[in-house]
Amino acid sequence: MFADLRGRVLEIGAGEGENLPAFGDDVSWTAIEPDAGARRELEREARRYGFVEEVIDARCEELPFSDKTFDAVVATLVFCSVTELARSFEEVMRVLKPGGTVACVEHVHAEKGSVRRLIQSMATPLSVRWDGNCHWNRDPVSAAHAAGFREQRLDRFELDTGVPFLPAPCILYVGVKPLDR
Ligand SMILES: C[S@@+](CC[C@H](N)C(=O)[O-])C[C@H]1O[C@@H](n2cnc3c(N)ncnc32)[C@H](O)[C@@H]1O
Repeated sequence: MFADLRGRVLEIGAGEGENLPAFGDDVSWTAIEPDAGARRELEREARRYGFVEEVIDARCEELPFSDKTFDAVVATLVFCSVTELARSFEEVMRVLKPGGTVACVEHVHAEKGSVRRLIQSMATPLSVRWDGNCHWNRDPVSAAHAAGFREQRLDRFELDTGVPFLPAPCILYVGVKPLDR
């Protein structure tokens, strides 16, 4: 998914740079990462992979970039952790150029009314407290569409959490910013 990206790319919550090997040579990469420890490792890894653009201390809810700056915004396993999901997608929409794409891989809520969903709801207060504000019961696809993105790709798959009975249905989502925004 990331290998096809070109131009100015913003990675949100880039962590320690796990995605860096996936980007092609035609990418001008910028990242935000609010965690100081992860950011130090990210800066080291970015240099190792030849990316010289900035690694910035910022949150998705308040992106320190002008409107229509980026060709693409990417995130993996981040929208579960942001404080304000709707606001985050609004900010992503703002900083993208018209026709630009948001591409993300996220774990999402299970089917409404299911036992799987109930378990996710019970696990969420614990992971919010002990695992970096991680919510198991979020719906980032609806948040992306509410912000105005048009769906280009939506794949669904299951991730093995390693925690017995804790389900993690996941999505790979690509949304496009309309040309008239
Ligand atoms: C589960 S880690 C994923 C890291 C990396 N994207 C990966 O896939 O390896 C979640 C990341 O989101 C970052 N994060 C948490 N809240 C954020 C926010 N409001 N805005 C941007 N990043 C955030 C965390 O600091 C952390 O690095």
